[in-house]
Amino acid sequence: RGLSRRRLLTGGAAALGAAGVGAVATSASRSDAASIGGFGSETIPFRGAHQAGITTVPPAHVVFVAVDLAPSATVGDLRSILRLWTTDAERLTSGRPALADTEPELATAPARLTVTVGLGPEVFDRVGLGDRRPASVRQLPPFAVDRLESSWNGGDLLLQIGGDDPSAAAHATRVLLKNVRSMTSVRWQQRGFRTARGVRPDGQTMRNMMGQVDGTVNPTPGPDLDGLVWDQGRDQPWFAGGTTMVLRRIRIELDTWDELDPRGRELTIGRRQDTGAPLTGVHEHDEPDLDATRMGIPVIPANAHIARAHHQTPRERFLRRAFNYDDPPPRGLTSDVGLVFTAFQQDIDAQFLPVQRRLAEADALNEWTTPIGSAVFAILPGVKGGEYLGQSLLT
Ligand code: HEM
Repeated sequence: RGLSRRRLLTGGAAALGAAGVGAVATSASRSDAASIGGFGSETIPFRGAHQAGITTVPPAHVVFVAVDLAPSATVGDLRSILRLWTTDAERLTSGRPALADTEPELATAPARLTVTVGLGPEVFDRVGLGDRRPASVRQLPPFAVDRLESSWNGGDLLLQIGGDDPSAAAHATRVLLKNVRSMTSVRWQQRGFRTARGVRPDGQTMRNMMGQVDGTVNPTPGPDLDGLVWDQGRDQPWFAGGTTMVLRRIRIELDTWDELDPRGRELTIGRRQDTGAPLTGVHEHDEPDLDATRMGIPVIPANAHIARAHHQTPRERFLRRAFNYDDPPPRGLTSDVGLVFTAFQQDIDAQFLPVQRRLAEADALNEWTTPIGSAVFAILPGVKGGEYLGQSLLT
């Protein structure tokens, strides 16, 4: 039975297209996943020049957890936390239970589990390493569109746990948090999702809860990513191979969005809702022509989201990686949906902020979207053989 099931699943994956599968190494040693086969046994290497979970093909589920250090925490405690997370994350992402795992059965089908760790701006001063904070890792300035709720802001440390199976991700989250609970407290937790694995071809751009194709224009692997995302260690040598993350929780006002007709929706974004093509093109990846006019009127309005967000210099680009959220609605409403929007870049000030400022000033989309959470993290460099997370910072 195991064999025929494996054949069915791998055959299905091949039929769906192999985009992204190259990033995945299969290691199913002595796990249930080995006998089950298929997506459950897929693993993503924990060690490497960069942490996994940033340029990895996005998973179906993600959990973001911000934790604060205990008031009495020292640099030694920070080191202990990062050592523990290194050991636990390496085991769990390879389909092995954590040491002293109380539910080892939940660890055997990692389904592309990744664990990504970052440090918030304040933590550097807290542990006496203020002069080693990457310069652009500090809280964002306020924007007129912000309606930030304190329950979604900031954090000393970030755990981003992604995978294609919510059980494996939930188990990993629990293990990683409980093993450091004497030194930390959870500040907030946010869950996000994309399409379940296998439902659409891997590599297809996701749709957000407004129905739009979201994520089309993004740096591609190769020099583009290296030059925009990964820190080169020029200002902070310890940070080479790391990156910065901006996390924004953005609520989407679906009830009023429902009132807008299809044409109005497309003019708001500057792209077609069905194909994701720019209003000046035919296919999703056609280059938008922001200067095109019809009878003297711009085809893509100047305040359309893509017109405001489009880079004005080559430096104003970054990697966008958004996940949908759909939480229980407050009493009297039918939904509480939005995006857990993350952006990765070398330098928040030079790359992300000019775009965010333009959007806050005059993006047509602002009428239906509200930023309610904001946090910034230094995503630690990748962990090479024998090292622990953050070792270059802490030695
Ligand atoms: C493009 C949706 C927030 C930056 C797009 C596109 C959609 C979209 C549908 C077009 C397809 C694509 O290229 O991905 C949304 C929604 C948001 C949101 C629903 C909030 C709920 C943001 C934020 C930023 C941002 C906060 C950055 C500050 C961009 C950029 C592009 C883009 C840079 C590509 C522009 C280009 O064509 O060059 N967004 N977005 N978006 N968005 Fe957003």
